[in-house]
Parts: sequence; structure tokens; C-alpha cells
Amino acid sequence: MIITVTLNTAIDKTLEVPNFRLGRRHRSVDQTTMPGGKGVNVARAIKRLGRPVIATGFAGGATGTRIVEALTAESVLTDFIRIGEESRTNTAVLDPTTGVQTEINERGPRVTEREMELFRDKLLYLAQGADICVFAGSLPRAVEPDVYGSLIKELRKLGVTTIVDTDGEPLRHAVRAEPDVVSPNVIEAEELVGHEFNDDEDRMLAVAEIVEQGPREAIMTVPDGVFAKVITEAGPQLYRVRVEQQEARAAVGSGDAFLAGYVACRYTGGTPEECLRFGVACGAESTQHFGAGVIDPHNVERLLGEVEAIPVSLSAEVG
Ligand SMILES: Nc1ncnc2c1ncn2[C@@H]1O[C@H](COP(=O)(O)OP(=O)(O)OP(=O)(O)O)[C@@H](O)[C@H]1O
Ligand SMILES: [Mg+2]
Repeated sequence: MIITVTLNTAIDKTLEVPNFRLGRRHRSVDQTTMPGGKGVNVARAIKRLGRPVIATGFAGGATGTRIVEALTAESVLTDFIRIGEESRTNTAVLDPTTGVQTEINERGPRVTEREMELFRDKLLYLAQGADICVFAGSLPRAVEPDVYGSLIKELRKLGVTTIVDTDGEPLRHAVRAEPDVVSPNVIEAEELVGHEFNDDEDRMLAVAEIVEQGPREAIMTVPDGVFAKVITEAGPQLYRVRVEQQEARAAVGSGDAFLAGYVACRYTGGTPEECLRFGVACGAESTQHFGAGVIDPHNVERLLGEVEAIPVSLSAEVG
């Protein structure tokens, strides 16, 4: 079983508004509403890929009920802690004439210490039947930034593979807890290592630098694939994995689709190279759909043939 942890679940509402202008009144031509939060998106995509997954985290109020019901309708298994305050609704405005998307994310509920304690117990219980646990997304209010870090340490003791996709202070704490994998995008990685990347050599070095901070493996997503430092049977290995950039209908959530593909492949025993390639194909495929974590497995197989994995020699790392 794969567990996804989403502490800051949401209802993601996307409004399609042609010629969107600030300060004007608009009518949306189309709208979609689906449960979200990064871990939830990852769970949706893993389910679509046919691997066993359960989404946990916090869900509160009427919005929380809606999140759970909508996931159930998608046949995604859930086991959330119900909390007193209301889960978020995030609103995005997509202008189809320009492809530009504007997002407004609510702050999210305040989670009490008691609720956090209940969650910890639930996660440790679920972990007994789990192989992989994915921690993804931001934290709700009043939750300590080291929460992922401390949960990672506990899950590791149980032999569960831990994978983290978050940013800022929670990411900093998480890497120090030595998870199996972190998968930041470029901005998140730049913030973590403390400088900007100017070329591919910088990007390749960055994943090695991240591994120095604690995680066993690091994968940095870029719009046309990933840079990664992974552990193969032969030892540590750098990879550049690339795909032709697709004309995106909606690129939001492609990082979540990447991670789902990577995790699904890893769950079934794929090699690091196979899992990176499969993840990149999933990320690329997801750009063809509205809705984060929405992927079509048939198209993923087709795209997989176009994904190129290039091992990069470790000597380049110090050069
Ligand atoms: N236009 C595109 N064409 C092909 N692949 C894409 C495109 N955009 C993104 N991807 C793939 O999706 C993956 C994740 O992309 P990116 O780094 O933009 O994620 P992200 O910023 O974490 O996104 P989000 O947080 O919205 O999920 C990358 O591995 C990349 O290969
Ligand atoms: Mg991301």
C-alpha cells in the first residue's frame, strides 16, 4: 500500500474566464471543482495508474466532508482525521485566450495539538500496512514546521520508504530527517540550497548538494524533465531525464503527476531509471488535462517512448 499525507487538503475550484482583467466583473464560461492539496493530487494519479493508495491527512467542516465524498466518488480510498476548523477552498482563474492561470489559495484551518496527535497515531497505524509514504504540500496553520521531519523519523523506524514534496521551512526540516527521496521543483530547490541555478551543470550539482543535506535521493523537476541523484544497484548515480516540452492545456499539478508516476513505478519494483522515466511521462501527460493529478495511463505509455534518460558521470559533479 502507498500512503499519501495531505495536511492542508482543499477544494480546488478552477474558473475559466476569457480575457480576464483585474478590477472587472466576469462570467465564467466553464468551471471545475475537485478535491486537492498536493498529496490528494498524488493519490488521484496513483489510483489512475492502478496502484493501491490511501489518502490521509486532515479534513474539516462541510468542505472537508465534500473532499472525502468527492474522493470516494473517484474510488480513492481515504482515512482522514476530521478537524474542527474548515478545510480550504482554493480558487484559480484560467484565461483560455492566453493560457495564464491566476491562483488564490486560502490560508487553511488551524489544527490543534490534539488533532495533530490523533493524526500521528493514525499514520503510524496505517504505516504498518504500507511500503511507501508520500508527504506533499504546505502545512495548515499552527502546525510546527518540523512535523514532516518528525513523522519521517518514525516511519523510517517502521521500514516505510518516505518521499517528500514540499517547500520552505517544512522542506528544510524534512531533508534533515533523512527521508528516502525529496522532489522539489527548481524554485524550491534554489531556496533549499541557497543560490540560483544558471545552467545545466548548476542544476546537476544542485541535486548532489541536496543529497548532502540528508535525503538518500533527490529529484529536481524542471519543465522538460528532471535532474536526479539516485541510488542504483551499482551505487549513487546522477541522471538527466528529458522529454519534449508539450503544449500544455494546464501545467498546474504536473509535479504531482510526476511524483505519482515515480512512486507507482517504485512500488512495483522499477529501477531508478525506469521510475524517473515513467514519472516524467506522467508529468508530461498531465499537462494535457485540466485538474491536478488527472492522467490517462494509455497516453503515458505512448509518451514513455519519447522520454530520454541520460546517466551523467559522477566526476562531473566535483569538476
Ligand atoms: N509543458 C510540459 N511538457 C512536458 N512535461 C512537462 C511540462 N510541464 C511540466 N512537465 C513535467 O512535469 C514535471 C513537473 O514539472 P514542474 O517542475 O513544473 O512541477 P511543479 O512546479 O512542482 O508543478 P506543480 O507544483 O504545479 O505540480 C516535470 O518533470 C516535467 O517533465
Ligand atoms: Mg510541485
